[in-house]
Amino acid sequence: MTSIVRSTLIRSHQWYIAATNCFPGNKLRMNFNISSISAATTHPQYLSGHSAWVEHIPFAFFAVATLAPRRFVELGTHYGDSYCAFCQAAVVLGAEAPFSAIDTWEGDEHAGLYDSAVLAQLRTVHDARYGEFSSLVQSRFDDAAKNFEPASIDLLHIDGLHTYEAVKADFEAWLPLMSERGVILFHDTDVRRDDFGVWKLWEELVARYPSFTFHHGHGLGVLGVGSEIPNSFGQLLECSDTEAEAVRQLFANLGRAVSRAVDLSREQAAHRETAEKLLRAEALTRQHGDTIQAVTPQQEAIEALTAQHQDAVEALTSQHQQNIAVLTRQTEDKIAALQANAQAQAEDAERKIIHLSSQLRSAHGHLRLMENSRSWRWTRPLRRS
Ligand SMILES: C[S@@+](CC[C@H](N)C(=O)[O-])C[C@H]1O[C@@H](n2cnc3c(N)ncnc32)[C@H](O)[C@@H]1O
Repeated sequence: MTSIVRSTLIRSHQWYIAATNCFPGNKLRMNFNISSISAATTHPQYLSGHSAWVEHIPFAFFAVATLAPRRFVELGTHYGDSYCAFCQAAVVLGAEAPFSAIDTWEGDEHAGLYDSAVLAQLRTVHDARYGEFSSLVQSRFDDAAKNFEPASIDLLHIDGLHTYEAVKADFEAWLPLMSERGVILFHDTDVRRDDFGVWKLWEELVARYPSFTFHHGHGLGVLGVGSEIPNSFGQLLECSDTEAEAVRQLFANLGRAVSRAVDLSREQAAHRETAEKLLRAEALTRQHGDTIQAVTPQQEAIEALTAQHQDAVEALTSQHQQNIAVLTRQTEDKIAALQANAQAQAEDAERKIIHLSSQLRSAHGHLRLMENSRSWRWTRPLRRS
């Protein structure tokens, strides 16, 4: 047990003793056996970290200590926080008897649907520790009810679906199976949101049976349905308002210590995870450093090669540029020579054209003179024949 939990439990216990002593006129008539109060301070071995029931675990221990149930049944177990607490109490108090947890282990509208891993995980905890006297029965509540004798159950915990209709049906189906020492616990009697309706059934039942109501941990109703409930427990159902308030405060304080333990172990798990992450990060950093050291010579060789390569590229580039400049100049000279040659040829051709044109004009002149000559005209008829 962690020291915080232990000191909170001791403080709660001391508070209870102090509260008991300071009421004048011995108004607190209750006389709980110190061992039943001490049992209520037992630290639970199993906390799933997912349950809304944990604040009632001290009362589970108290109930087993004071009732010593000859048969205990739980309707609605899910992760098993409440059920394992009842089982642990039986072992701690030497009160092992047939215990049964009934659930489809499939979930419902309020708990949500879940898969077979939940029951498999619970079995790993439950079977080894409590398997000799306790069984996890995978069944619907109404089907399982057929396997119990009438008047055979001393303590029943109803924590299935929390609609008014469902919890009423559970109560009515299982009431005939309760013994003359019968006590029924109802969880979530203080939840009034959505279609939660345990509170409504609870209002009806407290008018008909001796009862005790806890308001912490979403509310837990304790209903005495048997006619011969042991006085060690029965006085709880008959206590005055003042006594009831003292008992409520005691169990609320003890319950808070358990839920604080759940918070602490969640925080510890988160710290462990962070520490593991840090260790992994450190190992990676070391590996990284080693790798850097290992590749440094190669890196230096690569850098030297890169520098050589750059020098070669620069030398080649400069040579290439010089070649291009020479070739460009040669090409320009050739072009200029070709252009000059073409120009000279063009000028020569033009001159020839001018000369030929002048020859042509002169030939035309001669032709016209000839055509206009008398001898040409007189000889025309001869040319026609
Ligand atoms: C609120 S959870 C139980 C919580 C548990 N007592 C704890 O300690 O946290 C309700 C469980 O009842 C079961 N359940 C609801 N209706 C059922 C029915 N008719 N038959 C069998 N199981 C049922 C669901 O599968 C669910 O696991």
